[in-house]
Amino acid sequence: MAEAHWHDLGPVDALASRPLQQISVGRTRIALSWAGGEFAAISGACNHVGGPLGDGALDGDYVVCPWHHWKYHRKTGQGEPGYEQEAVPRYETRIEDGHLWIDLESGTKRQRIPHDPHPLARPVVRAPGGIRVVGLSTTAMDPAFPRFSTSEHLLTTALGFAEQWGAETQLFKLADLRFRHCEGYYSKSAHACTWPCSITQMDPDDQLDRVYEALVHWADVVLLATPIRWGVASSLYFKLAERLNCVQNQTTIRNKVLIRNKVASFIVTGGQDNVQGVVGQLLTFFGELGFLFPQFPFIAHSRGWSAEDMENNMSEVRTSRELAEGAEQLMNRALCLARDLIANQPAPDSVARGGRKAHHLS
Ligand code: FES
Repeated sequence: MAEAHWHDLGPVDALASRPLQQISVGRTRIALSWAGGEFAAISGACNHVGGPLGDGALDGDYVVCPWHHWKYHRKTGQGEPGYEQEAVPRYETRIEDGHLWIDLESGTKRQRIPHDPHPLARPVVRAPGGIRVVGLSTTAMDPAFPRFSTSEHLLTTALGFAEQWGAETQLFKLADLRFRHCEGYYSKSAHACTWPCSITQMDPDDQLDRVYEALVHWADVVLLATPIRWGVASSLYFKLAERLNCVQNQTTIRNKVLIRNKVASFIVTGGQDNVQGVVGQLLTFFGELGFLFPQFPFIAHSRGWSAEDMENNMSEVRTSRELAEGAEQLMNRALCLARDLIANQPAPDSVARGGRKAHHLS
């Protein structure tokens, strides 16, 4: 093969042993497929966010992206039916002397259907106005048969104080929201875990969009309440935390800090112990998201390991003036810090960009 733009991909026998593979020729990524006795080559970079198409799978004549499952015809590079205007480059191939060759200059033009950006993807700019507080109740219960929750009770007490203080509040009870578990896009590649969350972008019925909106765009203060379940926070808290990886991941992959000058505090209650262990996890995670904490950033109440009289625990929390005052004082500390942060907020263009890794190095 004389022409310089033809490149030898290797022996046909070896290449035909796999139905789909990702190959690099210089800096060009190729998704090479073999089906029905024919090779075909399209770009190995997905139009969405660059997933390695050749590492995906074949679905008939379509290459399925391994990251979020967009499909492209293995011969034409066009998107699946309904998305034909979406196309990745396709390349000519030839077999000569038992080797497969590809013409990199034959690549067709990449085409993208214009997509409106997701509303969550807009720049994060604090809207003018008073302090805004979002409460997150992570206790699990059947919304059809609500029960008294000690953590939620103290959370609503604190939110009531915030309203008297003059703040706007929103309360999200995770048990009332239908949202999917994190499906592990980050485990495929850090770049497969997108902001907004891949699930949020693909599933309009997923209701975590309103929590993202509140945390990233709306709130100055986040107050999270969790029960202790077997020494750790509630399963709904962890379900939320996994879905918040997309917020932290923007710092990791783009040095883009979505959470700035926001305050987080915590309420932890339980019939069992390990308050410090639960709060340690919360502080670490919310710190890595970019939140700041007031002095004494949590309140907690626990009956201890051997207390099994949970009905007494409920009545104790329900009637305790000390705990109610503790919740109000926690809210007050968070509000005061938020007020100071807002008052001292630098102009957006003077904010030094410095992500988690840069911070760790300093
Ligand atoms: S579907 Fe390919 S990168 Fe998202």
